[in-house]
Amino acid sequence: MRTHRAGDVRPDDAGSTVELCGWVAARRDHGGVVFLDVRDAAGIVQVVVDPEQVEGADVHHVRAEYCLRITGTVRPRPDGTVNPDLATGGVEVAATTLEVLNASEPPPIPIDDRTSADEMLRLRHRYLDLRSARLQRNLRIRSRVNNAVRNAMDAQGFVEVETPMLIASTPEGARDFVVPSRLSPGEFYALPQSPQLFKQLLMVGGLDRYYQVARCLRDEDLRADRQFEFMQLDAEMSFADGDDVRAVISEAIRAAVAAVTGEPLGDIPTLTYAEAMARFGSDKPDLRFGLELVDLGEVFGATEFRAFQADAVKAIRVPGQGDLGRARLDALIERAQGLGAAGLVWVRVRDGRTLEAPTVKFMSEAEQLGLVDVTGAEAGDLLLIVAGARRMVDHVLGTIRNDLGRPPVHEGGLHFCWVVDFPLFEEIVDGRPVPAHHPFTAPHPDDVTLLERAVGEELLSVRSLSYDLVCNGWELGSGSVRIHRPDLQAAIFAMLGIDDETARARFGFLLDAFKYGAPPHAGFAFGLDRLVAILAGEDNIREVIAFPKTQSGADPLTGAPTPVDDRHLRELGISVRAPKK
Ligand code: AMO
Repeated sequence: MRTHRAGDVRPDDAGSTVELCGWVAARRDHGGVVFLDVRDAAGIVQVVVDPEQVEGADVHHVRAEYCLRITGTVRPRPDGTVNPDLATGGVEVAATTLEVLNASEPPPIPIDDRTSADEMLRLRHRYLDLRSARLQRNLRIRSRVNNAVRNAMDAQGFVEVETPMLIASTPEGARDFVVPSRLSPGEFYALPQSPQLFKQLLMVGGLDRYYQVARCLRDEDLRADRQFEFMQLDAEMSFADGDDVRAVISEAIRAAVAAVTGEPLGDIPTLTYAEAMARFGSDKPDLRFGLELVDLGEVFGATEFRAFQADAVKAIRVPGQGDLGRARLDALIERAQGLGAAGLVWVRVRDGRTLEAPTVKFMSEAEQLGLVDVTGAEAGDLLLIVAGARRMVDHVLGTIRNDLGRPPVHEGGLHFCWVVDFPLFEEIVDGRPVPAHHPFTAPHPDDVTLLERAVGEELLSVRSLSYDLVCNGWELGSGSVRIHRPDLQAAIFAMLGIDDETARARFGFLLDAFKYGAPPHAGFAFGLDRLVAILAGEDNIREVIAFPKTQSGADPLTGAPTPVDDRHLRELGISVRAPKK
């Protein structure tokens, strides 16, 4: 139907006749001659329609978002009317024929102006929103990323295997979406939170290197980086350790970055969890900026200052912020208290590196000198100090560090890092440890004795062979070396309070599979939506998903979720107690 795409017309085409198809993005009626901005997948070109010269439809009836087919001659734009912001800005198309392929009702949302339309309205008319340059670009970036990671995995000898959607529950820690079974009324399938158990079975099945661009479903509260449905690049390898997995995944990430930015990504640095917490107060450190946490344990080890007689005393130095006003400082104190600290001590560094703060009088001269020394403080800087239990101090200062320093998503470049040796357990609830990753994660070999002996809170120091991939403060993915021996797996289940019967009922098939020479294996999964959002410079994954859900989990376009009719419910053996909407 066309010889060119509208957005591809260039000055080199001047003099040639082109046939274009597209939508009316804008229309200017200059009394007689009508200017149409015609948009298609490649961009926008200006079409000049002189009603006296053109054959076909009456241009005065053409409105926004009409779908048109135009034949015309490309010519350079007259002097002074060149638009340098548009790839086609040097030319225009003088129409000779105009065909209306389809009329359009007035669009209920502006297509390329994001500031003014209500989000619900946009999602309800997502097919119109998708015509915007931003979503067109984002979905094309997404396609390139999918393609690049698939190719990278193929090139490294991985086979793509599809795993089922109707399964028994997976243990990723979120709530399952469930699907009622008609043939077994009262019983339900779970939709997969990830392909975790199946990929481990594939390793027992000798697939050796598996990957999948996998849809995952989790019924959890939605946020900027979370949807009910999302995509993972999921992988598992046999006879491999964490280093092997990280090397493979780093290749896929490098391919994705190169496909979008055209720039090579250097080596991805590795931090241990302990180091990330100590330096950045976070297990997903944003390495785009400094403001690192400084340990003041040595400085205040024997202090008389009550507030600093604590498990940990740490600071961040905020360069050049020594003049921050009292209101801002009070807000920082409140923030620290809101995060669990007893308080926050601020200190202004003046000329000669002398300190100024109401609390300075409680610090000895040696402590004051030490504080300046260890933090590297300069005149004009602000020091923020928090004391207390180490986990709390790291968390509070890590959060304040992000509050003060974190650039917007599209600034500061791409700073990936691997965080390794996560704790095996995240917390102790009712005397039982809760796994930090999932219950199939192998303990760190150096901590196996500790694991056997530790009780209560001591268990939180046991490390695991698990690792995360982080970029610009976002958790992009997680993985681990798995337990492949049934005796160790049974011991871990017992510690987690999963008794034999429950373990058999939930994961019996996996434990059985492990009895047949299960190979040592390790794997990883990263969130494609999150990777694409970062590469597209978006801070909400909704902007890189064609048909996302709202914050409350609804789809304003199709109306989902919707009630099911009574006959269908009867067939499923279900009666609904909640009132219908
Ligand atoms: P995990 O649960 O850490 O690990 O998930 C891996 C990555 O998936 C992405 N992700 C999400 N993205 C959007 N919306 C969500 N609701 C959502 N939940 C998770 C994140 C996250 O880092 N089976 C293990 C992996 C393994 O051990 O191999 C797993 O799923 O980017």
